[in-house]
Amino acid sequence: MADDLCFFTKESFIIKPPKKNPLVLKMAVLIFVMVCGIYVCSTRIKRIGGQSSFSTLNIQVIEKKPCEAAIDIQPSEKPYLHFPKPKTFDRYFAILSTQRSGSGWFETLLNSHINISSNGEIFSVKVRRSNISTIVETLDRIYNLDWFTSASKNECTAAVGLKWMLNQGLMQHHEEIVEYFKTKGVSAIFLFRRNLLRRMVSILANSYDQNAKPLNGTHKSHVHSTHEAEILAKYKPTINTTLLIPNLKQVEDLVTKSMQYFKSTRHIILYYEDIINNHTKLLEVQEFLKVPQRDLNSRQVKIHKGALSSQVENWEDVKKTLKKTRYESFLQEDYKL
Ligand SMILES: *[C@@H]1O[C@H](CO)[C@@H](O)[C@H](O)[C@H]1NC(C)=O
Ligand SMILES: *[C@@H]1O[C@H](CO)[C@@H](O)[C@H](O)[C@H]1NC(C)=O
Ligand SMILES: *[C@@H]1O[C@H](CO)[C@@H](O)[C@H](O)[C@H]1NC(C)=O
Ligand SMILES: *[C@@H]1O[C@H](CO)[C@@H](O)[C@H](O)[C@H]1NC(C)=O
Ligand SMILES: *[C@@H]1O[C@H](CO)[C@@H](O)[C@H](O)[C@H]1NC(C)=O
Repeated sequence: MADDLCFFTKESFIIKPPKKNPLVLKMAVLIFVMVCGIYVCSTRIKRIGGQSSFSTLNIQVIEKKPCEAAIDIQPSEKPYLHFPKPKTFDRYFAILSTQRSGSGWFETLLNSHINISSNGEIFSVKVRRSNISTIVETLDRIYNLDWFTSASKNECTAAVGLKWMLNQGLMQHHEEIVEYFKTKGVSAIFLFRRNLLRRMVSILANSYDQNAKPLNGTHKSHVHSTHEAEILAKYKPTINTTLLIPNLKQVEDLVTKSMQYFKSTRHIILYYEDIINNHTKLLEVQEFLKVPQRDLNSRQVKIHKGALSSQVENWEDVKKTLKKTRYESFLQEDYKL
């Protein structure tokens, strides 16, 4: 384009030779051609530079600069800032949770934010959690931003993370992982359910679905339409009342222990019910991750709605078992949708 422009103007100068002051005009044409030449040369150099192996590096630096400037850095926050490859700035987080606690839904909410990238349940793949070396290697890949999944965004990402279930090596290797979190500055987002009985219903229903697959033969842990949710919610599990209290206690202990293990890392504790009841919780999360506050949304549809009593086959037995125990509150309605 630059070339066309140059030749066109040069020609127009030549076609109309002026009569007055030919020397001045010749000089003017010469200077004009020189300027044009320099311009063309410099654009060529830029293009050649763009094709070199440093191109991605250059582009990254240019793109990341405005993001860096957009953030106020408090001295107390310095340990949580990162400058990995050339000059990018990132905040690292890990959503620590248990299965069927709304973490899938929560993660889609976070990923609806342009500056947050959560990479999913990376450690559901067993080899990645074989031992602490594979765990560290996997974490390094995520936090060095060279993990490209469908969930990850790279444009102006300010917070990078993953979803990690307590039973995915997190408890066994807690000492080394806490150490890693501290040195790398990874913040923990605990996400649990207050009502562990509801969680149990969700687990039983999900494992039923894994075998029965009422949705045209496909197993779905999360759904995106009310129609699908209604079909999945039709199944009412029967809860083994002998195992009920020991099971609830086991999960409760696991959750308490995880919070003890990771209490020295920077963290926030969230409950699924609180997020559903009060959307300002999501603002707290965004503040915790130091990203601009936005409305977060998810396309996921809740499978089990309404009263818990209508979702359990042997509700009367369950009620009797939990009456007068510390888990009695789980029988009550805890949220309305
Ligand atoms: C968030 O992303 C937008 C759009 O890419 C960008 O302009 C903004 O600077 C980013 N903010 C942060 C804190 O990175
Ligand atoms: C860790 O696990 C990986 C993959 O299973 C294996 O190749 C490696 O030898 C193990 N390392 C140690 C130190 O056990
Ligand atoms: C099963 O598949 C058919 C055809 O693709 C569709 O019309 C129907 O809604 C599906 N059923 C469920 C439960 O998803
Ligand atoms: C409940 O679980 C216990 C222990 O696994 C088992 O012995 C019992 O048969 C189960 N009860 C029912 C009704 O399935
Ligand atoms: C929602 O949560 C915020 C703090 O996160 C609290 O200040 C506010 O009172 C809560 N609102 C309701 C209706 O519970």
